[in-house]
Amino acid sequence: MLYTFIVLVKYYHNYVWAELEWYHLKLRTFLLLNILSFGLFVAVTLISARLPSPMSEQTIAGKLVWQRHNCISCHTLFGNGGYVGDDLTHITAKDNPSYLIEYFVHPPVMRPNKYTHHPALDEVDAEDLVHYLEFVNTIPTLGWPPQQEKEGKDS
Ligand code: HEC
Repeated sequence: MLYTFIVLVKYYHNYVWAELEWYHLKLRTFLLLNILSFGLFVAVTLISARLPSPMSEQTIAGKLVWQRHNCISCHTLFGNGGYVGDDLTHITAKDNPSYLIEYFVHPPVMRPNKYTHHPALDEVDAEDLVHYLEFVNTIPTLGWPPQQEKEGKDS
């Protein structure tokens, strides 16, 4: 009788200890993973806060030129704006910077007009603006907006 009792107690004791150890192991893993992921979170936050902003001062100045001259009244960016001129979201993929700067500094007559020239910019504004348009072109738009051929534009 006593022997049975001792065996039972020993068995129970071993069982409880095994459970406790397993529990500790789980708790330790849990805490370790938590601390590690919190550390990772802090590291990523600190690193990304220090990354240089991809927007240069000229780009920001170019956006102000865009606003000051109300280019949006005739042109769209990302499909929003006026439809007199073309969409300019990806214009820098089509035209090179020197062509664009020349276009703004010595603007041609706007078709279908005979005398009205395209709005003109000075050289500094033109360069800033091209930086802005180059930045806009780097924003992924999945091909948006769709480019439609204008009927009779060149006729
Ligand atoms: C009054 C309306 C109007 C305003 C304002 C205007 N544009 Fe235009 N823009 C046009 C039209 C119309 C054309 C097309 C001219 C042509 O095809 O002969 C054009 C052409 C262009 C082109 C050449 C596009 C190409 O396909 O090569 C660029 C670049 C451009 N505009 C940029 C601008 C910028 C930048 C501004 C602001 C500083 C601006 N435009 C303001 C009407 C406008």
